[in-house]
Amino acid sequence: MGRVALVTGGSRGIGAAISKALQAAGYSVAANYAGNDEAAAAFTAETGIKTYKWNVADYDASAAGIAAVEAELGPIDVVVANAGITRDAPFHKMTPDQWKQVIDTNLTGVFNTVHPVWPGMRERKFGRVVVISSINGQKGQFGQVNYAATKAGDLGIVKSLAQEGARFGITANAICPGYIATEMVMAVPEKVREAIIGQIPTGRLGEPEEIARCVAFLAADDAGFINGSTISANGGQFFV
Ligand code: CAA
Repeated sequence: MGRVALVTGGSRGIGAAISKALQAAGYSVAANYAGNDEAAAAFTAETGIKTYKWNVADYDASAAGIAAVEAELGPIDVVVANAGITRDAPFHKMTPDQWKQVIDTNLTGVFNTVHPVWPGMRERKFGRVVVISSINGQKGQFGQVNYAATKAGDLGIVKSLAQEGARFGITANAICPGYIATEMVMAVPEKVREAIIGQIPTGRLGEPEEIARCVAFLAADDAGFINGSTISANGGQFFV
C-alpha cells in the first residue's frame, strides 16, 4: 500500500497545490479544510482528492478528523501543517481577538494537527512532518505581529520535533514561502502588494506549485537525513 498524506488547508491556495503534488507523487491524500464547502467540493470534483472538514484550532475536532482519515485511508505517514489565516493590523490597532484567532489557527493548529499523528509515526518508525511557515516568520512584517509570531513559532516547533522524532525515523522540516499568488496575498491592498513585488528580485509573486515541489521533496522516503531544516522559497526577497 502507498503512503498516506494529510494536508491541512489542503483544498485551496498553496495547500491545494501541495495536495495535488503529493497525489501526483503517488500518495493517498486527505485534504482538510475549515469552512469553504463549495471550494472543497470543486476541488474534489477536479482532483478526486477527498476533503475532510474540521477546524484545526480545535484539538478534539482535529483528533476526530484525523481518526476518520486514518480509518478510511490508513495510517498517516506524511502530515503537512499548512492551514493558516491572516488578521493584519498595525500593532496599536490589533485587537486581542485578532491576536487570538491567528495564534489559535496558525500555531496551536500545528500542535493540534501533528500531536494526534505523532504516536503512530513513532510506533511505525516513519514519519514526515512539514510545516508551512513564512518569510514573515523569518523577517517580521509591518502589520503582522500576530502572524509573524506564529510563523517564527513554526520554526521552533520543527527544530524541536526534529530532535524528538529522529530516532523513530521521523523528520520535521519547515518551508518559508515568500509572497505567493494566492487569495491571501491578493487580499493585501494593491498599493502595498505592488510595493512588496518591487522588493522581490525575481520580479513576481511565487506560484503555489513552487511551494508544493518543496513539500514533495521533504516528504520523500529518501529525504530522511533532512531534519529540522528550513527551506526558503521567496524569489530572493530575504536571505537567512
Ligand atoms: N512600513 C512602514 N510604514 C508602513 C508600512 C510599512 N510596510 N505600511 C504602512 N505603513 C504606514 C502608513 O504609511 C501609515 O503612515 P501614516 O500614518 O504616516 O500615513 C501608517 O503606517 C499606518 O498605515 P495605515 O493607516 O494604512 O494602517 P492600516 O490600519 O490601514 O493597516 C496594514 C495597514 C493592514 C498593515 C496594511 O499596510 C497591510 O495590509 N500591509 C500588508 C501586510 C502584509 O504584508 N501582509 C502579508 C499578507 S500575505 C501573507 O501573510 C502570506 C505570507 O506568508 C507572505
